[in-house]
Amino acid sequence: MLDYGLKDKVVIITGATGGIGRAIASEFYDLGAQTVLTGRNHEKLFAICDALHTDPKKGLEPLCIPLDLTAIEAEETLIQETQKNFNRIDVLINNAGRVDSRMFLKSDPVFLQNMIHLNMIVPYNLSRLALPHMLRNKYGRIISMTSIAGAMGDAAMSAYAGSKGGMAAFTKAIAAEYGRRGITANCIAPGIIDTEAAHTIPAQRRKELRDINPMRRFGKPEEVAYLAAFLASERAAYINGQQIHINGGIIR
Ligand SMILES: NC(=O)c1ccc[n+]([C@@H]2O[C@H](COP(=O)([O-])OP(=O)(O)OC[C@H]3O[C@@H](n4cnc5c(N)ncnc54)[C@H](OP(=O)(O)O)[C@@H]3O)[C@@H](O)[C@H]2O)c1
Repeated sequence: MLDYGLKDKVVIITGATGGIGRAIASEFYDLGAQTVLTGRNHEKLFAICDALHTDPKKGLEPLCIPLDLTAIEAEETLIQETQKNFNRIDVLINNAGRVDSRMFLKSDPVFLQNMIHLNMIVPYNLSRLALPHMLRNKYGRIISMTSIAGAMGDAAMSAYAGSKGGMAAFTKAIAAEYGRRGITANCIAPGIIDTEAAHTIPAQRRKELRDINPMRRFGKPEEVAYLAAFLASERAAYINGQQIHINGGIIR
């Protein structure tokens, strides 16, 4: 097993009930991190924690905090509960997100605002709230899940792309501001990853997307999780302010 130096590191993972978040939770748990998992669906969240923690000797018991992160003070609750339980925060993984497509002329500012709230304002606030705890320990990793659509654009994705592009931009600013203090901030921009969210794409479109991918397949959630673990590690100390694409080789 690779040693990423993540043992006992306190890692917050949002969207842990989703396909990618669950894989990230499992990877960090296996690497010995103290995971703090959040999602909206209580039942699913606790089932994921139980499934991870079947062998208590293998890792630390995950802390589950079910939350709708767009609710008032939800971000504060997540950070305060983590701090109260573990007295430190080492890694924040801003993974919760909403994908919704709408042709530009059928979209409106409310649609955009809702998208921006979860995909940009929540990660912005969580990063802002977690950062002072990271600065105290002179170590921190902020990793945010953007998207190929945010970097390259896509039809019917203006609101989603805007929200993810915004996240990538503020990540660079955080990186520029706090790199010298031991904090890195990076984004992971997945192409299509085989999760429930990807299954909402109509079958014919899924086939087309697979056919144009150099690898002729979609990514696996665990492939994203391996990258997240690397970025969170000491080994990635000099990677800062980047958006790393993980998409099988799509170049536009
Ligand atoms: N899958 C892909 O192909 C792909 C490609 C590019 C980027 N991404 C990005 O990767 C991230 C994870 O994607 P995924 O495929 O794993 O998505 P997913 O399976 O749909 O999971 C989304 C996660 O976000 C959580 N969430 C949604 N609304 C929330 C809210 N208001 N408050 C708190 N949590 C909320 C969900 O919680 P509940 O289910 O409990 O409500 C779930 O845990 C997202 O940011 C997405 O934009 C995914």
